[in-house]
Amino acid sequence: MTDLAGDLARLRHLSGIKWNRYPDDVLPCWVADMDIRTAPVITEALEDLVRRGDFGYNFSAAAALPDAWVAWQTARHGWRPDVERVRVFSDVLQAVDLALWFGTRSGDGVVLLTPVYPPFFRCVESIGRVVVDCPLDPAGWRLGRDLLDEAIERAAAEGITTRAVLLCNPHNPTGRVFGPHELAAVAEVARERDLLVISDEIWGDIIFDGRRHIPFASISDDAAARTVTASAASKTFSVAGLRCAVAHLGVEKIESGIAGLPGHMLGAVSTPGAVASYTGWTQGGPWVEETVRFLASQRDHVRARITAELPRVRMNAPEATYLAWLDLRDLGLGDDPAAWLLEHARVALGSGPDFGVHGHGYARLNFATTRAVLDEALDRIVRALG
Ligand SMILES: Cc1ncc(COP(=O)(O)O)c(C=O)c1O
Repeated sequence: MTDLAGDLARLRHLSGIKWNRYPDDVLPCWVADMDIRTAPVITEALEDLVRRGDFGYNFSAAAALPDAWVAWQTARHGWRPDVERVRVFSDVLQAVDLALWFGTRSGDGVVLLTPVYPPFFRCVESIGRVVVDCPLDPAGWRLGRDLLDEAIERAAAEGITTRAVLLCNPHNPTGRVFGPHELAAVAEVARERDLLVISDEIWGDIIFDGRRHIPFASISDDAAARTVTASAASKTFSVAGLRCAVAHLGVEKIESGIAGLPGHMLGAVSTPGAVASYTGWTQGGPWVEETVRFLASQRDHVRARITAELPRVRMNAPEATYLAWLDLRDLGLGDDPAAWLLEHARVALGSGPDFGVHGHGYARLNFATTRAVLDEALDRIVRALG
């Protein structure tokens, strides 16, 4: 069996959405799931659970998570969240929804740094808040005070009062790792305009070239007190299906709002989700380092092939994430090049327009797969565009 055939034989048996949404002749490079198996320490911890038949009510597995996550944040990112303010959630968007629900009111504006992770639009709009579109500068996807002020003023001219910023740092889909000056600018605008900041830092561990992830709440005491930081082990350790997340609730009224909800309204995380996250955060460091090295080599490979074989496709090297945000506007494939590539190359990419109006003409390629699958996907794209 070739490498490709062997990889496909394994991956096509997975039951997740990545390998099942499209017919078998399509290579899926869309949803942000890795085709890389999780860390062996996590697999062993889950196998132990199964061997013991350890599936009874279990609240201690989740109760251990805040300390484990605080230690992970401290060791890796130099930020020590207040453990008393860390809560466990079923996923990152649950924490984001609750922060928006308790931290803003109907009709309030919420800044999104676009193009951005598609569910953010729904989080804002489904509860009657209004998206304040703040496009990142496409020359390098820079974030500046000027851009934030312009977006907020534009919204104000339409009668929308901005009350919050929903950050994605590192940023999906551009792969930007916002630097200290960019984050300080956000903190300054937030302080001056008294904004809530919700910082989705789920990508904080998958970061390349010796760069540093700066948790937004670590910038200053003022930033910490106005920020909800959400994170999870799902990207870092390739366990998205286990549904488990954490958030640091720096904002008093959000913390008390959530604490005041009826006891079972939020449900609870499952034991496998808690065990996988705990094991990753306490023992998974070396695996993450090795995986990030592999992902960096995949990124470099995508970039080298695109530069050599598809010179009309533009791509910045992502500084984080395993996602390549491809600018296909020069190819005349319309607003949604992913739809064209699905039909003509039989490769499924993320559709640019899902990431907002500034995603028109773009597509997102997930390169967290084996080298053989990645090469096959790139071969197909090159052939279709050639
Ligand atoms: C920015 C961002 N937030 C949240 C999620 C999903 O989080 P969870 O695994 O908790 O569902 C993703 C998944 O791609 C993401 O990119």
